[in-house]
Amino acid sequence: MWNRLFRKKETLLPPADWGVLKADMHSHLIPGIDDGSQNMDQTIAMLAKFESLGYKKVVTTPHIMSDYFKNTPEIILRGLKEVQETAKKLGLKIQIEAAAEYYFDDAFIKSLQNKEELLTFGDRFLLFEFSFHEPPGQTEAMVFEMVTQKYQPILAHFERYTYYLGSVDKARELRDRGVNIQMNINSLTGHYGPAIKKQAELLVDEKMVDFIGSDCHRIEHLMKIEQAAKLPYVHKALELPLKNAQLL
Ligand SMILES: [Fe+2]
Repeated sequence: MWNRLFRKKETLLPPADWGVLKADMHSHLIPGIDDGSQNMDQTIAMLAKFESLGYKKVVTTPHIMSDYFKNTPEIILRGLKEVQETAKKLGLKIQIEAAAEYYFDDAFIKSLQNKEELLTFGDRFLLFEFSFHEPPGQTEAMVFEMVTQKYQPILAHFERYTYYLGSVDKARELRDRGVNIQMNINSLTGHYGPAIKKQAELLVDEKMVDFIGSDCHRIEHLMKIEQAAKLPYVHKALELPLKNAQLL
């Protein structure tokens, strides 16, 4: 407790400009289809906030997870169309696209093996995530499969996988195999706890970040991101050769 009371407060810098990223590529903004936005009002509020933070585009990425969120390209693209139409009617200028965040489960592996066309953004970027608690199997073969099919894989929020904490060797290995590494901005704020924050800082120190994303599910995530602009590690992250701006 004393430790906590006397912990040195982090020095803050003048707020960095999120606009330099141009595009966010990880969020859950299609209403009612996953654990993100629950209705169109929430979606519009979040889009307006992205716009005011300086973003020009969001690529929203609903979960596709066979156990919990049985989304399909049709469901996602139908939802996207409604969001685009509503945002336009309300005068929002931000560009909105959609792809998916694929959970690395049997269904995903099967889709890959069957060479089904998966939802991508930009130059065939394919966002996927692992389980938070159990290390995945078959990664080498599946990454090989993705790269062979000319996808550019992006592993979501590498810093959040508890079984990789304390080292970024796996990120290095995956990058060598052609996987891009995405970090959540809010990992640097401590939103997911101190261990995840430390791992995110390590990723930045080791320059192992290719994309940074909001992973926005609720407006509160964007409020925290607004505050995060003052963190030294956010400044440091924004100086990395990130690929977000390629998506504009
Ligand atoms: Fe996500």
